[in-house]
Amino acid sequence: FRIPKPINEPVKQYAPGSPERASLKKKLAEMRSQEIEIPLIIGGKEVRTGRLGTCVMPHRHGHVLAKYHKAGPHEVAMAIEAALAAHKTWSRMAWHDRAAIFLKAAELLAGPWRDTLNAATMLGQSKTVFQAEIDSACEIIDFWRYNPYFMQQIYDDQPFSPLGQWNRVEYRPLEGFVFAVTPFNFTSIGANLPTSPALMGNTVVWKPASTAVYSAYFTMKLLEAAGLPPGVINFVVGSGGEVGNPVLASEHLAGLHFTGSTATFQAMWRTIAENLPRYRSYPRVVGETGGKDFVFAHASADVPALVTALVRGAFEYQGQKCSAASRAYIPASLWPQVKEQLLAQIAEIKVGDVEDFRNFMGAVIDRAAFDSIVSYIEYAKSSPDAEILAGGTYDASTGYFIQPTVVLAKDHNLKLMKEEIFGPVLTLFVYPDEKLDEALTLCDQGSPYALTGSVFAQDRQAIAYITERLRDAAGNFYINDKPTGAVVGQQPFGGARASGTNDKAGSMWNLIRWTSPRAIKETF
Ligand code: ALA
Repeated sequence: FRIPKPINEPVKQYAPGSPERASLKKKLAEMRSQEIEIPLIIGGKEVRTGRLGTCVMPHRHGHVLAKYHKAGPHEVAMAIEAALAAHKTWSRMAWHDRAAIFLKAAELLAGPWRDTLNAATMLGQSKTVFQAEIDSACEIIDFWRYNPYFMQQIYDDQPFSPLGQWNRVEYRPLEGFVFAVTPFNFTSIGANLPTSPALMGNTVVWKPASTAVYSAYFTMKLLEAAGLPPGVINFVVGSGGEVGNPVLASEHLAGLHFTGSTATFQAMWRTIAENLPRYRSYPRVVGETGGKDFVFAHASADVPALVTALVRGAFEYQGQKCSAASRAYIPASLWPQVKEQLLAQIAEIKVGDVEDFRNFMGAVIDRAAFDSIVSYIEYAKSSPDAEILAGGTYDASTGYFIQPTVVLAKDHNLKLMKEEIFGPVLTLFVYPDEKLDEALTLCDQGSPYALTGSVFAQDRQAIAYITERLRDAAGNFYINDKPTGAVVGQQPFGGARASGTNDKAGSMWNLIRWTSPRAIKETF
């Protein structure tokens, strides 16, 4: 059996008057007008606890989309049991049969399920249509098409056999279950973190972020529609303490597949370390965490391209991508031009309800995010080392809206240059052209993270020099492009330092972590 090399799913445009726009609008109206109930799904069965949480629209927070049932330790125990029971058959299913389920899920999403997942992501996570389409349609489809192809490449990698011997490596699934913990900011990460270990023959307990339960539930229903057997992925929603702690304490924990905050990941890793004597095997720990992603401009940069990257990189999805441009280094010689063009473009940005397709930004995810982002903006307003150049205003009366904000850091020590804000705040530092080396050192050492970064330069020697100097500062490095928008099969995604274990989502390197290879030597 061979899985042909896939191609990336084309991005639909939803142009005014197009049938795809009409169809999506209809789905948005339909889903918005129904309040649904979301059960847990354990061993293929719906489980209701009666302890309820609500899913609201961030851009209209009075509007309830769903009530979801929350799990506690009892349901966690059921989910682990279901995962272990399913492991018996799933882990021995032929790899091409496992692959076929995800390939089918990709086709369902490319077709009849596309509007449902896009609408769920727009309504529940306040993504614009374009941001939803590249995430909850294209990126998920790409994960489900490419990961089976990468799996095949892993299985193909076999050792040398001298005459009279046959050496082979059997890429066994892990023994036990994998815990997938997913964030709100990408429906596609929600889809990928449980399904990539499952594809490799593992079974999974999946805890989506409570702010993305709505789209995660539809992802789960789509997987069921594609034929995922009961218990392979168990959908368990609840608090970190009530769900996370009992899961991490299970002797059968075989791996953690995590995307979220650095603090949460470190706390979970510490818990795993404390529990080590309990486990049958050392759990695989794979995590992608925070970022303080940079755009570094050289004096030879193309200014319009740089400004577009700053605007798109910093403000698309309200700056809530782990890859978002959050700090920028601009040479003094370019600053007047950059400032003029940047402020002009920001003045055009419309913030509001994502169902109005003219808006470029929706709301931030919830009250806690709003308060945290606002506290950085207020800090900048009161700091003598900062100047607000654009935005700085916000309003949470109907939705959690924050205007795109640009802060000039007069001192590189300003905390807005270092700390992850996870919102629509871009902090800029202007460096004297002759102090390029000092600026590069600040960029490299100025934050604990190393997720994404961009360099803008047209001088090839400058590109080569900066790329080398910033070698350890980003796991995904862009030359003359924004630091967001990695594409599966094109730019494997992940970072090092405080940004994660750099096991590159959408690649063989990630999938191989979900295997426990057995080397077999047979002598004839
Ligand atoms: N993979 C996402 C991006 O590159 C986070 O923007």
